[in-house]
Amino acid sequence: APSDPDLVERARAAKAKLGDKVFVLGHHYQRDEVIAFADVTGDSFKLARDAAARPDAEYIVFCGVHFMAESADILTSDAQQVVLPDLAAGCSMADMATAEQVAECWDVLTEAGVADVTVPVSYMNSSADIKAFTGKHGGTICTSSNAERALRWAFEQGEKVLFLPDQHLGRNTAVRDMGMSLDDCVVYNPHKPGGGLTAGQLRDARMILWRGHCSVHGRFSLESVREVRERIPGVNVLVHPECRHEVVAAADHVGSTEYIIKTLEAAPAGSKWAVGTELNLVRRLANRFAAEGKEIVFLDRTVCFCSTMNRIDLPHLVWALESLAEGKVVNRIEVDPEVAAFSKVALERMLALP
Ligand code: 13P
Ligand code: SF4
Repeated sequence: APSDPDLVERARAAKAKLGDKVFVLGHHYQRDEVIAFADVTGDSFKLARDAAARPDAEYIVFCGVHFMAESADILTSDAQQVVLPDLAAGCSMADMATAEQVAECWDVLTEAGVADVTVPVSYMNSSADIKAFTGKHGGTICTSSNAERALRWAFEQGEKVLFLPDQHLGRNTAVRDMGMSLDDCVVYNPHKPGGGLTAGQLRDARMILWRGHCSVHGRFSLESVREVRERIPGVNVLVHPECRHEVVAAADHVGSTEYIIKTLEAAPAGSKWAVGTELNLVRRLANRFAAEGKEIVFLDRTVCFCSTMNRIDLPHLVWALESLAEGKVVNRIEVDPEVAAFSKVALERMLALP
């Protein structure tokens, strides 16, 4: 639906009034009406880097989800304030690993005698508490665009990796990019005593995968890949690595949101693509590339927005910008200083990956 012209005008006016004081970041899954006001768009790695590269902006308005705004707060100076236009914009995957559960898991690994040789690698999609745990225990953060490099680094530091919280990104990277076998991976279930694993299983495993997943990407199935290949002969299947292993194994190309965009930019006219990621992005790409004769369809027939990404809409953005323009900071995301210090260690390890 077209945006309310009145709100568009108000967002423009508030942004103009704020000038260089505000910097608006937009994740690729954001609605079109929000992306229209982003100073920069990106995947989670690019946005973390770009937030850190704006020391002059007093306010960072993060159009994305909570863990992204937390990371921006950790990576920016104390004087800078990070605003999330709707505090209900969380991430169900990030919520699947709590600090208590992860501390308990570490006790389980310690009892099995493997904690000393295990390096935590945590996906960006995790709370600041989990990032702090990772920093404290010698690990690194990764995103979908550098997971392979993060794993290679981690296996230089230790013998095993505890991968949090997305089992799929962990498994896909280990098997697809690092040549490990599915048998090298075990899944730690935080809802079962001992994670549902024996000490022997923990000793034999190379990858200990946390039992978390993305509910949006979890909806793509092998059936969706088969169906689209049948329906559109010659179609290229391009998916995000948060998809299940069998989907990734059946796809032609796999990568982060930024990679997905770059791949489609480089695709020849007349090529056909089925894309397995969030719908706002796929729709935007389909519209953008239609003029160049590239046919882009959504990998599944069921509608699949990320409901929490969608929480950030134009009314919330206008409210945040107008409040800032009046000198009132709303919805500030501020990470506890001690948590931030350890998280920063882990985030900086990621930023320094070769
Ligand atoms: P990207 O880093 O690929 O943008 O992914 C972020 C995300 O939340 C995917 O669900
Ligand atoms: Fe979280 Fe999935 Fe939404 Fe990404 S798409 S923010 S992983 S729920």
